[in-house]
Amino acid sequence: MAMRIKLLVGTMTGTAELVAQEVQQTLQNDGHDAEVLMMDAVGVDVFARGGVFIVCTSTHGYGDIPDNAVEFFENLERRRPRLDSVTYGVIALGDGTYGENFCKAGDRFDELLSKLGARRAGKPLRHDANSGDVPEEVATQWVTQWVKDDLGPAGGAA
Ligand SMILES: Cc1cc2nc3c(=O)[nH]c(=O)nc-3n(C[C@H](O)[C@H](O)[C@H](O)COP(=O)(O)O)c2cc1C
Repeated sequence: MAMRIKLLVGTMTGTAELVAQEVQQTLQNDGHDAEVLMMDAVGVDVFARGGVFIVCTSTHGYGDIPDNAVEFFENLERRRPRLDSVTYGVIALGDGTYGENFCKAGDRFDELLSKLGARRAGKPLRHDANSGDVPEEVATQWVTQWVKDDLGPAGGAA
């Protein structure tokens, strides 16, 4: 069944955007409708109609959310929309050498969306830049499994 999936991108140096574009291509090749949206180009109303989303974000500073995603994150925290009809997955990019701050921005989005009532499908993908794995390769493999095994036939969304 064809899904409609929006990828929300938080990035500092472009890797997460590239990953999201490759994931979009994979989804489109599989017959799904996928859209890449930079987080500084959307408001919290992107969730207003519910649906299926993938948060694709790196982490910067020491566990910080990328600059282009900060306002979106803070608006969600402040306005606290109910996200009961939202299903989401997480692609978190990070670097294992940051220890307890590894993929922290992805974790923070995950926690916040859950708190607002959204349902996470499957486990977050956590890519370690220190591992030598190519992020877009890992992510495109992950998303194929994610749609098949975790999303369910109706996308889990209302
Ligand atoms: C200055 C700097 C700070 C970083 N801080 C963290 C961090 O706290 N935690 C983490 O997991 N990764 C951290 N990283 C690694 C990035 O998240 C990782 O390289 C990611 O692939 C970059 O993606 P982007 O180009 O989309 O921003 C940091 C990278 C840089 C250059």
